[in-house]
Amino acid sequence: MKIACIGGGPAGLYFAISMKLRDPAHEIEIFERNPPGVTFGWGVVFSDQTVENITKNDPVSAEAITDELAHWDDIDVHVHGETITSGGHGFIGIGRKRLLEILQNRARELGVTLHFGIECDPANPAWRNYDLVIASDGLNSRFRSATPEAFGVDVDVRKNKFVWLGTNKAFDAFTFAFEETEHGWIWAHAYRFAPDFSTFIVECSDEVWRAIGFDRMSQEESIAKCEQLFAKYLDGHKLQSNAAHLRGSAAWLNFPRVKCERWSSGNVILLGDAAHTAHFSIGSGTKLALEDAIKLAEVLNRDGLSLAAAMDEYVAERNLEVLKLQNSARNSTEWFETLERYLHFEPLQFAYSLLTRSQRISHENLRLRDREWLEGVERWFWKRATEGKSNKTAPPMFAPLKLRDMTVENRITVSPMAMYSAVDGVPNDFHFVHLGERALGGAGLVFTEMTCVSPEGRISPGCTGLWNDEQVAAWQRIVDFVHANSKAKICLQLGHSGAKGSTKLGWEGNDLPLDDGNWPVMSASDLAWSPVNQVPRAMTRADMDAVRDQFVAATRMAIDCGFDMVELHAAHGYLLSSFITPLQNKRTDDYGGSLENRLRYPLEVFAAMRAAWPSDRPMSVRISATDWAGEDGVTPDEAVQIGEAFAHEGADLIDVSAGQTWTDQQPVYGRMFQTPFSDRIRNEGRLATMAVGNIYEPDHANSILAAGRADLVALARPHLVDPMWTLRAAAQLDYRDIHIPPQYLNGMSQLARNLKREAEMAAALRV
Ligand SMILES: Cc1cc2nc3c(=O)[nH]c(=O)nc-3n(C[C@H](O)[C@H](O)[C@H](O)COP(=O)(O)OP(=O)(O)OC[C@H]3O[C@@H](n4cnc5c(N)ncnc54)[C@H](O)[C@@H]3O)c2cc1C
Ligand SMILES: Cc1cc2nc3c(=O)[nH]c(=O)nc-3n(C[C@H](O)[C@H](O)[C@H](O)COP(=O)(O)O)c2cc1C
Repeated sequence: MKIACIGGGPAGLYFAISMKLRDPAHEIEIFERNPPGVTFGWGVVFSDQTVENITKNDPVSAEAITDELAHWDDIDVHVHGETITSGGHGFIGIGRKRLLEILQNRARELGVTLHFGIECDPANPAWRNYDLVIASDGLNSRFRSATPEAFGVDVDVRKNKFVWLGTNKAFDAFTFAFEETEHGWIWAHAYRFAPDFSTFIVECSDEVWRAIGFDRMSQEESIAKCEQLFAKYLDGHKLQSNAAHLRGSAAWLNFPRVKCERWSSGNVILLGDAAHTAHFSIGSGTKLALEDAIKLAEVLNRDGLSLAAAMDEYVAERNLEVLKLQNSARNSTEWFETLERYLHFEPLQFAYSLLTRSQRISHENLRLRDREWLEGVERWFWKRATEGKSNKTAPPMFAPLKLRDMTVENRITVSPMAMYSAVDGVPNDFHFVHLGERALGGAGLVFTEMTCVSPEGRISPGCTGLWNDEQVAAWQRIVDFVHANSKAKICLQLGHSGAKGSTKLGWEGNDLPLDDGNWPVMSASDLAWSPVNQVPRAMTRADMDAVRDQFVAATRMAIDCGFDMVELHAAHGYLLSSFITPLQNKRTDDYGGSLENRLRYPLEVFAAMRAAWPSDRPMSVRISATDWAGEDGVTPDEAVQIGEAFAHEGADLIDVSAGQTWTDQQPVYGRMFQTPFSDRIRNEGRLATMAVGNIYEPDHANSILAAGRADLVALARPHLVDPMWTLRAAAQLDYRDIHIPPQYLNGMSQLARNLKREAEMAAALRV
């Protein structure tokens, strides 16, 4: 094949090498706009995995690269005058210039023709003379931008400013240095890539950048200012730019995240940064470029594969890899963009939060990297959780939490789950066994399902309720069992179904009206939940008074039942949620319109309940932190205000759920997918929160808690199939201090022994 590679960066060069290695008959020319030896940027980092991949592909260039790699293990985080060092991170770095030299030499050796100093124009008809034109022309690719619609290009220009500098100061560790100026925070990411050279990227928010005056400075002034701000880390070394061709503030950039729906059009194929970018803070751009190049060369040379089939395979495999990395990169980008949220953390927790920001590194992963450091974090967590009383080194999920006078033994909760199994609102033997069994399973806190404050407030005929003495007695029996046989605390979730009421049992169909015997429903406005549901009555003030009083009456009964805690359900599109979300609330009175108005009634109900509930017992509120409807619905930003408003009325915990507030929601699912909302409410609102949503491993829970993303972790579906989830986690993590019902002691010790033996065998096999 006759191939033109536009751009002699890592992608273009390595693709040319990989093609020639597979078939020396290919005619390949590389066109690079810069003269040889001129390049932007300083060092790049690789993982061991990337080195393994390039070694398999071309041992010759890999050997030249590995000979020059700088290795380091530690990460130093400097913040608030302290340095936190954690080890075991295993990075390798190389100068970009050196990497390109090695690749250029190797390409020449294999017969690739290299042209330098040629600015390629996509409109030039000469490109038609090539079988393939590889657009390896970097993130600002002209070949991609010439026909963006052909590639389905999506560019997201991020908020922060950064500049890529270098210095002769040799940093021994990967260094994150956070400095507070009179205008706000600015920080550096620094890493060594040669014996006497380090990359030094400076980053800050746009506001701080302008306030410091970088927008009005020449490049020399900018560098001098950075030298002054980071003087204590530079030991007298200068900072240098190699973007001398960029004038004034132009050397500062906003990172553009590039995504493409299609990676080829006609004879043009996108490769490397031209096809996708991943934020520099996870250091994966060069890795992706090299791995793209290997895969593309492999499919283009596979016998019997048509060009179309080769492209399909290239895109399918690489796109998946890229999406995974872009996901992590987005988490990392956002962490730096919302840095202010974490600056109140103590340095150790701040460093933990930084290290786990992309969610690729978890608690147990940190233990593998640096056990001693992680155990220091665990001791710190326990000390804080016990107001200095405990010196324990143990996983955060087993640390207690005090809310008012209630102390939960550990941080795992059984999330509220409707069981649709009550008759006339009375919990029965099913609920007794179901809740009792989950309390025996070791969770620190067990929630009841949404228990309704009136017969009309039920979702289905099978929902539990609390409006009469029979129900009080039935709940009392359950609460007494939990208290007598476990250390778990039990929280009653109270709610009213609103427009989502009068529907079938959960397993008979979601939100479908009853075949017969429907009762009238009410909501904030007269909007049916869906075309098949009833049109509710828009609540009058008299309705609002009546329902508020029902909530208060149920709260008083909860005292008689002996509950430790009460939660108000103001999420998921039910009655109180229908006031909060603008998608369901179309009122024009004092209870509709602004967020303040939409919150007025739910807050009134909560305040009335709080007044009725003993002041030494805690209360929480479950909210939907987003409607998954963009700006048209509740946004995560508003969720912070919602959390703050309830906290102002005496809520001790915000239970942060999301969505289910309208039928066309577009949730973004994934592991721990709702935890970012909890993180935001907790750390922007400085409130205690509970995270929930696809959290299913002890490692998830420990990572969330240690990183300060929530104070409690709720699991719903995992508890449906495993009531003993917490005890099993204790066995797995070899934590012995949890309350085990004496009847189950034998089983626990056997499980712990077996798990330990399995772990030892797995470790032996790894060796
Ligand atoms: C601040 C910062 C830090 C980074 N840190 C890392 C890191 O630690 N690790 C890592 O792996 N990656 C890092 N990257 C990303 C990395 O630089 C890129 O992802 C990687 O270089 C992509 O390779 P590429 O060949 O696709 O693009 P590039 O390296 O951008 O190469 C494109 C080439 O095309 C040439 N070109 C462009 N247009 C034309 C044209 N019209 N005609 C002729 N030539 C043209 C350019 O001059 C350039 O040489 C970082 C990026 C930034 C901005
Ligand atoms: C069967 C079932 C019933 C549920 N009922 C309730 C409920 O009564 N009240 C509530 O707030 N959430 C309810 N939820 C939502 C869960 O509490 C939880 O927020 C959700 O399932 C996400 O957590 P998970 O991924 O751990 O399952 C229910 C979930 C399930 C699976």
